[in-house]
Amino acid sequence: MKKTCVVTGGSSGIGLSIVKLFEQNNYQVFNLDLSPSPFGEFCYCDVTNISQVTKIINNIAKQQSIDVLVSNAGIHFSANIENTSEDDFDKVFNLNVKGAYAAVKAVLPSMKASNNGAIIIISSDQALIAKHNSFAYNLSKAALASMAKTTALDYAAFNIRANAVCPGTIETPLYHQAIDNYCQKSGADKAEIHREEESLQPLNRLGQPEEVAELVLFLASDKAKFITGSLQVIDGGYTAQ
Ligand code: NAI
Repeated sequence: MKKTCVVTGGSSGIGLSIVKLFEQNNYQVFNLDLSPSPFGEFCYCDVTNISQVTKIINNIAKQQSIDVLVSNAGIHFSANIENTSEDDFDKVFNLNVKGAYAAVKAVLPSMKASNNGAIIIISSDQALIAKHNSFAYNLSKAALASMAKTTALDYAAFNIRANAVCPGTIETPLYHQAIDNYCQKSGADKAEIHREEESLQPLNRLGQPEEVAELVLFLASDKAKFITGSLQVIDGGYTAQ
């Protein structure tokens, strides 16, 4: 029988690779996203809307128990604290933190009932280190690392594991958008910035979304059954420097 996995933000980048890899590994995957995608069972959902997230996940849970949640939807925002307006701050937190809170909270009743579950929250290397001009994003990703730990402790008794994945720079549409924005503001050359970005990584390249998906699949599996409350770094050595 297929296991059930719910992914948020599964129509692009890291989320899309996760949806595809889980499907290839015999999971029925529900993709909660704003943009449609041919992969997984698409459910239109704005994860900042708590009642929408809850309703969709409850409907899935009525049909089958939910084995895995991958809370992945997120946005980057580039600015220091002075250049972060209250609106900017709310936008980043509503999606990155409140969206994850909504999804994690909604899957717990199903996971508790089956005494089984794996929750994987996509955080960032920025949960461990700060990066320049990334104030709200840094904060939001540190909050997600904490969400994984606190959920792991509170639900270990129900055999529910929760871990955070902390990717370094991964080549996705979000990455390209972030460097496009930077180049527009600074007038820098995109190809040059991309090369610089690669050379900052000890492995001298950026990560690929498929590589993050492999780690998520491992964390969801029984091979990882003693791993909970952890922050799993996948960054080509960046935070080891
Ligand atoms: P992406 O921009 O390629 O994909 C994000 C997906 O989330 C899109 O499909 C988008 O439609 C969806 N989404 C956006 N707002 C939504 C909302 N309100 N409700 C539902 N879905 C929504 O981004 P990427 O790069 O794949 O990032 C995925 C996650 O990985 C994010 O949480 C990001 O912070 C994290 N991450 C990415 C890194 C990178 O270098 N690309 C590095 C570290 C972490």
